[in-house]
Amino acid sequence: MALSRRDFLTRVGQAGGYSAAFLSMQGLGLMPAKAEAPIALNAAPGSGKGTKVVILGGGIAGLVAAYEMRELGYEVTVLEARARPGGRNWTVRTGDKIKFTDGTEQTCAWDAGHYQNFGPARLPSIHRTILGYCKKLGVQLEVEVNTSRSSFLQNDAANGGAPVIQRQAINDTRGHVSELLLKCMNAGALDAEMTKEDRERMLAFLRMYGSLDNAGKYAGGDRAGYKVEPGAGDQVGIPSTPIDMHTLLDENFWQGVLFEETFDMQATMFQPVGGMDRIPFAFAKSLGDIVQYNAPVTEIRKTSRGVRVGYTVGGAAKTIEGDYCICALPLTMLRKIPNDFAAPYKKVIEECSYAAAYKVAWESRRFWEQDYNIYGGLEFVMNGCSPIWFPSANMHTERGVVVSGYTDESTSPFGKLSIPEKFAESRKSIERLHPGHGKELEKPMYVGWGKIPWNEGSWIRSYDAKPTQPRPDGSTSARGINSPGYETLIQPDGPIYFTGCHVSHIVAWQEGAALSSLRAVKMISEKVKLAKLASQAGSAVAV
Ligand code: ALA
Repeated sequence: MALSRRDFLTRVGQAGGYSAAFLSMQGLGLMPAKAEAPIALNAAPGSGKGTKVVILGGGIAGLVAAYEMRELGYEVTVLEARARPGGRNWTVRTGDKIKFTDGTEQTCAWDAGHYQNFGPARLPSIHRTILGYCKKLGVQLEVEVNTSRSSFLQNDAANGGAPVIQRQAINDTRGHVSELLLKCMNAGALDAEMTKEDRERMLAFLRMYGSLDNAGKYAGGDRAGYKVEPGAGDQVGIPSTPIDMHTLLDENFWQGVLFEETFDMQATMFQPVGGMDRIPFAFAKSLGDIVQYNAPVTEIRKTSRGVRVGYTVGGAAKTIEGDYCICALPLTMLRKIPNDFAAPYKKVIEECSYAAAYKVAWESRRFWEQDYNIYGGLEFVMNGCSPIWFPSANMHTERGVVVSGYTDESTSPFGKLSIPEKFAESRKSIERLHPGHGKELEKPMYVGWGKIPWNEGSWIRSYDAKPTQPRPDGSTSARGINSPGYETLIQPDGPIYFTGCHVSHIVAWQEGAALSSLRAVKMISEKVKLAKLASQAGSAVAV
């Protein structure tokens, strides 16, 4: 008889104790391996000596590539168009300017210590590559609170449009669903589906899962919160009255609630203390003058040896040659740079489309903490700027920075609004969820990545002009099945290797960017190793 995986693990555990079971679980893919990058370079220190690599772009992909190649002894140069490292990893603080391609400019005047990560703003615990670099580079982390049961959900069609507290929405729904299922089972509806033993187990489970009373009814309970909170002396707690099931059965509530179940949105989530840009600045400090700033690329050419890249520094034209090139620029920028790419690469660069995510952030009194006991987390508004994202740093200080609105504006009417109109919409969302507090919002800042020079897009949305078939697992990857564009990009174009989160299945995450570069470094290292072996064999024959 075939053993189930569970039986197998139980037996291994009995025979070999805990550590044998643990190792077997790792082998079966049931438990992740230890917290380090899943791509091993398998290249010896010094193996890159004598090989020149030009890296285009000083975002996370370019910085990871430079860091690893320098460790292996390659001669590395990073060309970065901006005066700072990080690309989309961008933290705005007082005095910083946000400049758009249309010439619009905003200057941040928040209090010292306040900041907003307008690009990446969270590091899931499963992203072990980027977390590994934080550890290696000494970037101090703190918990980013991605979810709070005290925060609100709002849906125009439910509850008269009034917000509902997440703890109540979640637990009342569990209660109602459990009560209904229990009723069906007691009426024999599932008798044919389950053994008697499983039915008993399920009934016990539903009572506990849904917080049902002895009669199998859901009548509210402390999980969903209180009308009157329990206190000292004779102050007993009075649980809140359950919200009716009709109200709760609206998918718009559930999109908000289930957000935190997405694989890469689950707790524990981290952020660097002081701002996400602590990561690129730590890389930059380690790399020193390997990174050339204010050096936009103007031309990418193939040569008999490898590549020749044109760029400018302070307006003066320069060129640099290399054996290999790691191209970590956004495809939106590559479109504008004269190049020698082969036709399939030119095609994907031309045909791909990018999302244009935006964030609007405000400085405010921490009314969410002081008046609502909300510490971090996100709130979802059905029609309007959403989500509202509360800060995780410096809790219990007087003021902080809150985001109201973070989505892709490339296809929404929001994208067409003027900046003052965007601010008005953003303020309205806060006012809808927290009446009276819209007026507390000050000094708004808006970043729309579609208009940010050197990006002109937030992350790739599709690789191909023709839509590819969506992936059946419902994954959020921009790559459908058989995406010719993606399949092209993951292969080198001669000496040129493309990297960035768009060359991974982890689009819009620093983890994807880092992994894509580790993969390219590995591929180049293998080529270099083979070339050296071939030349040694050649000289042996010649001798
Ligand atoms: N990685 C992006 C985020 O955290 C999509 O919102």
